[in-house]
Amino acid sequence: MQGRDFLTLSDVSAKELREILDFSIKLKEIKYSEELKGKTLAMLFAKTSTRTRVSFETAMTQLNGHAINLNWNETNFVKGDLKDEAKILGLYCDAVMARVFTHDQILSIAEGCDKPVINGMDDLHHPCQALADLLTILETKGKFKGLKLGWVGDGTNVCNSLIQGAEMVGMKAVIATPKGYEPKVKTSATIIQDPKEAARGADILVTDTWISLGFEKEKEERMRVFPPYQLNTQLLALAKKDCIVLHCLPAQRGHEITSDVMDSPQSKIFQESENRLHTEKALLLKLI
Ligand code: CP
Repeated sequence: MQGRDFLTLSDVSAKELREILDFSIKLKEIKYSEELKGKTLAMLFAKTSTRTRVSFETAMTQLNGHAINLNWNETNFVKGDLKDEAKILGLYCDAVMARVFTHDQILSIAEGCDKPVINGMDDLHHPCQALADLLTILETKGKFKGLKLGWVGDGTNVCNSLIQGAEMVGMKAVIATPKGYEPKVKTSATIIQDPKEAARGADILVTDTWISLGFEKEKEERMRVFPPYQLNTQLLALAKKDCIVLHCLPAQRGHEITSDVMDSPQSKIFQESENRLHTEKALLLKLI
């Protein structure tokens, strides 16, 4: 995988995906190493972030490399040609991680940059989040094959990446969204509107914010259509007894997920968040 981009989960094979996950588990035991000594990661953010920013920077620190945080608005990405600007980052740095507004933007950055480009989230994909989600499922269930993953709520970029991942590892994904909010990436996932059907017999239940970054102007409409999709104790009761709950965070407690579910023993949400660090270390070591 050395030198390659990671823009969507389909940039890796099913075998490579499993290798990244298995490597992440090994890295949890090691924590610090010298493997990226002298290497620099440019981190470009056009949108806000807590987890992506801190997990990637910490990953570089623990591997003895360095990360540069670039606020999009303080760079000439705002006024220059994306490919030219990205080319320069590649001349200085060993890899680029970028959170951008559109998938076309990450494609342009990858086209311009000769070093590995990692998608830190765009409007269609959040592949780094899907890696952490898959690792959390593997750690808690010990397998993927035959598991039912139910998604309730908005068919977000995280949903797109997770259902790509589910297909690659052999999980059955059942996605329940209001009409008009379906995931945009085509996979073998079953797309329905009934949240109870997604939850029934599920091994994993996942949700995401109803108002993703960039959709703030739609708040009123979204608050009208999404409440039947809330991940609460009644919905969780339809799933298997050992069903785990995931959410990429940040969560709006009391909206897409209730606090009693989020703080329940079935919630693996904070393990999932921590796993961003471990999967990103594995990814950086594979790509750089
Ligand atoms: N889940 C996630 O990507 O978190 P941030 O937006 O805080 O980076």
